Amino acid sequence: LKLAVLISGGGSNLKALLDAAADPDFPAQIVCVGSDTEAPGLAYATAAGIPTFVVRPSDYDSREEWGQVLAAAIQEHGIGTGPHPGLVVSAGLMRILPAGFVRSFSPDLINTHPALLPAFPGAHAVRDALAAGATETGVTVHVIDEGVDTGPVLRQVAVPVLPGDTEDALHERIKREERPLLVQTVRDIARGELSLDAATSRS
Ligand code: GRF
Repeated sequence: LKLAVLISGGGSNLKALLDAAADPDFPAQIVCVGSDTEAPGLAYATAAGIPTFVVRPSDYDSREEWGQVLAAAIQEHGIGTGPHPGLVVSAGLMRILPAGFVRSFSPDLINTHPALLPAFPGAHAVRDALAAGATETGVTVHVIDEGVDTGPVLRQVAVPVLPGDTEDALHERIKREERPLLVQTVRDIARGELSLDAATSRS
């Protein structure tokens, strides 16, 4: 299964996928990594000899146009086209993907979110869970639809919130579960053990 991974920051989830894909038995290969900015995590892809591209929203007049250019960059690497469309993995992309982009790849488009959706959607999930006094939160891997963090849930793992947790401490605890969850979810999709068509048609 060919993967296009999208990031905006440190890329520890990307790194987990790269490490998994280094095993020849892993059923997926990362063919490109994209970002909306000069994300530090791009260095992991470069070190692995994987093409990267940066498509900056500020370079375009609309989110839709940004999405079209981002989609084209992904399609240039063979993702989203032909009989084997591969999979787009948003792993820490801090942007809402526009509807046209989603339609280009759906349902072969997943996201990882640091909360137990539908709880705490949006860009500040960890901070929001803390502010709400939640004693438990977690991580969700879901299919991306045209809403914000609203697509069908594929996998979730709960993570405890501990007294005195800072946002960073809680986020790190979440990431410790998130990275293997994302790898396992990609593996299950690649092996046909998790159907994105079924997930989207069920919703
Ligand atoms: C992840 O927790 C992801 O769920 C959230 O941003 C974080 C990115 O972390 N949207 P990293 O860049 O993969 O380390």
